[in-house]
Amino acid sequence: MSQRFLIVSALTLILIASQIFWVQQVRNWATSLIPSSTWRRRVGIAGLVGYLLLVSYNFLPLWLGFVFDRTLIVGGARSAGPSHLTLRAILFLAHFWGRIGRTRSPEPTHLTLRAALIQAPFWSWIVCSLLGFLIAVVFGLADRISRAARWLYRRVAEASRAVPLPNPVSLARRRFLERTALAVTTAPFVAGAYGMFYERLNLEISHRRIKIPRLPRAFEGFRIAQLSDIHIGPFMTTEEIGRYVSIANGLKAELVALTGDFVTWDPSTQSAVVEVLAGVKAPFGVYGCLGNHEMWAAVEDSITRLFARRGIRILRGERAAIRSGGEVINLLGVDYQSRSPMGPRGQRLVREYLQGVDRLMAPDTANILLSHNPNTFDRAAEYGIDLSLAGHTHGGQVTLEFVHPDLSPSRLITPYVRGWFAKPGGQLYVNRGIGTIFVPIRFGAPPEITLFELARS
Ligand SMILES: [Fe+2]
Repeated sequence: MSQRFLIVSALTLILIASQIFWVQQVRNWATSLIPSSTWRRRVGIAGLVGYLLLVSYNFLPLWLGFVFDRTLIVGGARSAGPSHLTLRAILFLAHFWGRIGRTRSPEPTHLTLRAALIQAPFWSWIVCSLLGFLIAVVFGLADRISRAARWLYRRVAEASRAVPLPNPVSLARRRFLERTALAVTTAPFVAGAYGMFYERLNLEISHRRIKIPRLPRAFEGFRIAQLSDIHIGPFMTTEEIGRYVSIANGLKAELVALTGDFVTWDPSTQSAVVEVLAGVKAPFGVYGCLGNHEMWAAVEDSITRLFARRGIRILRGERAAIRSGGEVINLLGVDYQSRSPMGPRGQRLVREYLQGVDRLMAPDTANILLSHNPNTFDRAAEYGIDLSLAGHTHGGQVTLEFVHPDLSPSRLITPYVRGWFAKPGGQLYVNRGIGTIFVPIRFGAPPEITLFELARS
């Protein structure tokens, strides 16, 4: 049984537990809000049917497709005997249902009613209800421990005094705890609404001066704008990307770097994102590298050709000499590199990051690397690449890094979640990107366009 299957199964069980928890919560609220038991039942049945339809529409096909496609079909298809007939039938239906889920229609590049009224609320509900449930579990455990400690204290105190102590648990305290628990468990929903309607759209322009001692004199003050993780889709429409293109052009950078993840899942969106990004202009050119979503959508070759037709050069294990005043800096770019399989078509691994990149380096000038995955930084610094520009993490996308640096899901895949890093041999900047994946929510990680100014000292 694969590790991935175990993780997906564990997450599914936690998700089911969270949904049972919230159904129970809603039932409790309905009991206090709807006095008539007949109406309560009717509303409950209607709500449950609607909920199951939403689950079936949004979630089940993807889950079945993922689990059955990747784990059981391989073994099940080779199995023989009557005991496997039922399994084969289930596999066939699941595979068919999964395909329907994935190929219902092309991913839209404009906001649709289906995305706004069905997909976004549902996936936001899944994320927020899961977080609320986990908070409730922690809160419940803390409450149990506190009650056990109080009980133990009373027993010890009673034993030493030989007279019973009055029960300190008051009704007011219990109500206070219940209200606090309710406020805490519903907090993710409030945060989710904030993240969807405000923070996701609240672009930050980050300015950063990067010191590169061997920068040629002609490039003193040279400005590079970085955009990353566009993720075109119903919540990153062509109009929205056009707005970011205008903002990037307004920064008047000498060169623009696009660090991957142009599409989200659907290959058919590649032309739309290229067309709108073709509006990015810079006197020294627009360059880019590819992200994991280009690999997953299998558009690496085609999107590179589309970009090339619009004057944008995607560097795929290549370099470009940027010349000014008779001097040059060396721009390098690599495809998404990973040492662990991640997502569809994620089997394409590298044993060692940035293999062969040393041959692309220029020894006597500044080397700047475009690499979607920030994990290549350690190797880049070993090579002596002066500056790496990366994306990929979305700055955590939904994160509590402002509470504690470890409270970010991206920490599971990289120590380089956002911002500037330095170590002997090189520097790294991880851009938070402008798009989102899975849920159109950003919390604690607003979208970002970065403007770098290169300096010799
Ligand atoms: Fe991304």
